[in-house]
Amino acid sequence: MVTVNENYLKLPGNYLFSTIAKKVNEYASNNPDANIIRLGIGDVTEPIIPSVIEALHKAVDEMAVKETFRGYAPDLGYDFLRNAISENDYKSRGCDINPDEIFVSDGAKSDCSNIQEIFGADSKIAVCDPVYPVYVDSNVMAGRTGTYNPDTTMWSNVIYMPCTSDNNFTPELPKETPDLIYLCYPNNPTGTGISKENLQKWVDYALKVGAIILYDAAYEAYITDATMPHSIYECEGALDCAIEFRSFSKNAGFTGMRLGFTVIPKRLKASGEAVHPLWARRHGTKYNGAPYIVQRAGEAVYSESGKAEIKAQVAKYMSNATYLRNELIAAGYEVYGGVNAPYIWMKTPDGLGSWEFFDLLLKTANVVGTPGVGFGPSGENYFRLTAFGTYENSVEAIKRIKNL
Ligand code: MLT
Repeated sequence: MVTVNENYLKLPGNYLFSTIAKKVNEYASNNPDANIIRLGIGDVTEPIIPSVIEALHKAVDEMAVKETFRGYAPDLGYDFLRNAISENDYKSRGCDINPDEIFVSDGAKSDCSNIQEIFGADSKIAVCDPVYPVYVDSNVMAGRTGTYNPDTTMWSNVIYMPCTSDNNFTPELPKETPDLIYLCYPNNPTGTGISKENLQKWVDYALKVGAIILYDAAYEAYITDATMPHSIYECEGALDCAIEFRSFSKNAGFTGMRLGFTVIPKRLKASGEAVHPLWARRHGTKYNGAPYIVQRAGEAVYSESGKAEIKAQVAKYMSNATYLRNELIAAGYEVYGGVNAPYIWMKTPDGLGSWEFFDLLLKTANVVGTPGVGFGPSGENYFRLTAFGTYENSVEAIKRIKNL
């Protein structure tokens, strides 16, 4: 008799952003005149930069000509893009990452959810709490997380590392030794950054206990503090203990185009086995490469004009972040993040639960944010707003929040 993967049945509710979309759609259909401002999911609103559009058009034209038409892309990515990434994201920062250690994909979400399948089924994971839900959910699907406690909303076989204002949103080294440690900096959802010194502590710890750090650097373009690391490979020893995920979604507005990459150093080993060939094997078997035109678009992000245009786009979103942050603080809210990341992480007013505040904001102000508790139990009484909206909507949202 055919059966289903029972691990899927263990997942409580839906994916966080699907739940939010469902609630908002329901509200919108019952209140068709409501002018809803969506500052929930971190989806970009600025159009793709001109240098990328130009590269896209050129690549599309190539596809129409027999001599320049391309079929399947090389499964690990085109050399032109892997070379550009290696030079611009790594060598320029002193990180020894070669093009053949870069795996081009359709985005960081797929990679950071799929990576767990090359590790042993009994690997113990450690996550920050709150955390991007994909890390935990993908391990639930793989049957690695034990049983779910609906009262604590925690899994028995996951090491949670609380990040709250009490520890300045910086996780402490876990007491129990993990095999895989998920870290995301600049952090989603708390919008906080990590110093090089602090990140080095994690690298030293991973090397000491033989763990691997799965480092999500999707928001590195938003770092404003010049001393903060953009890559974990800026830390000594990280080539031996870390995998890094990067995305074009947030830094170049590719949420709808899909492009990202994963870096696995060739010398990285798990219990004596090289990890790089396993991911190459997985990629080759399960993935047929990001489209040629999208990889050419990605290459254009690294052109001189592309870099300048991207910088301006990121600055635009960060000016929303500064605006939201300053206005909320002026209105008396306790606010974190928004300095080195495009997320504002605020305490809910009057001790309201995260979902209570979500409902209040949706129904009273027609503003959508993300309830902190959706990212984990330590996110309760917190709320996330994204700076990826338009400036006009950020201003209008603040006006409405002030009138609550
Ligand atoms: C978020 O809002 O946390 C992200 O946009 C979700 C994602 O990247 O999948």
